Amino acid sequence: MVSNQEIEKAVKFLSCDQLVAFPTETVYGLGADATSSVAISMVYLVKRRPIEHPLIIHIAEDEELDRWAVQVSDEAEMLASAFWPGPLTLILHKRADGISDEATAGLTTVGLRMPRHPVAQQVLKAFGGPLAAPSANRFGKVSPTTAQHVHDDLGSEIALILDGGPCQVGVESTIVDCTFDEPRIVRVGGITTEEITEALSRPIEHAPDGSVAASGTLPSHYAPQAHIELCDISAVVADAERLLEENRVGLLVSVADLREVQRRLPDELIVLESPQDLEHFARDLYARLREADTHKLDVLLVVPPERAGIGAAIYDRLTRAAAPRPH
Ligand code: TXA
Ligand code: MG
Repeated sequence: MVSNQEIEKAVKFLSCDQLVAFPTETVYGLGADATSSVAISMVYLVKRRPIEHPLIIHIAEDEELDRWAVQVSDEAEMLASAFWPGPLTLILHKRADGISDEATAGLTTVGLRMPRHPVAQQVLKAFGGPLAAPSANRFGKVSPTTAQHVHDDLGSEIALILDGGPCQVGVESTIVDCTFDEPRIVRVGGITTEEITEALSRPIEHAPDGSVAASGTLPSHYAPQAHIELCDISAVVADAERLLEENRVGLLVSVADLREVQRRLPDELIVLESPQDLEHFARDLYARLREADTHKLDVLLVVPPERAGIGAAIYDRLTRAAAPRPH
């Protein structure tokens, strides 16, 4: 997929504070040397991200947990050993030296994640240090799940994009804050709440929205140009007819839901490719949201899937994509 030569090139760029986009199992990341304040300021600049939003720090080796964090709780250790490498980020107390203050937005905590995508691991191991990697898109927009998405969004502004094919999970990592007595889920994502509950052998709380500076927890985020409207399957035909009077309208529903309404849908409605199951819904979600814009839709009607398992993360991203936008 990615040659050794390309990995070497990536390491060279990263070592002189340049940005390299690389695939992870969740979404493509915009990689930068997490110990360099110069490289980190480039990330904020290119993403147009407000500097008070900290970045997730990516690592490849188990030892790095204690290298970059202190007072790691037993439950944090349990979660790391259950889900790393994988789509889980742990918020921990930050060790004072090493990771740049800019990367953690001046906080005394640090978000650590060990991705399982082979290309992410290759880059991290070859670089030999921590990489800050927010999703490789402009702030507030739809995250990229292919190298082409990154190219479309930021291609002219970054040194290199490593193409590791389409991301398999498709929604960002789950973030668990482990700096309190009780761990709390800050962002739902690739590891389900059910899986975390099982690993901890007890239920876990969700932090209220806005309680941490997590950009993925802002009301409006992950948004394409098209207006996103969520609707129930029972209302989809009527909603589509109403909206089509004045708009170019698309529809995103699961295969099972589509079967129920297919014969009653208006002809002018643009039906996007339907996901087979929850995993595919998550994997293809951002590509479909981007398609809403390539089809120049005014409105994308979406019938959200059930909220169990990865469906909770899908529902979360859809409600943020549908939220009123700041002007
Ligand atoms: O799946 C992912 O996590 C992707 C891939 C590329 O690894 N990365 C990602 O990064 O989603 P980003 O920067 O788009 O989202 C990071 C989230 C932000 O909402 C940020 O505020 C939160 O993690 N975060 C990072 N460090 C934190 C900290 N110390 N305390 C609270 N929140 C933190
Ligand atoms: Mg993001």
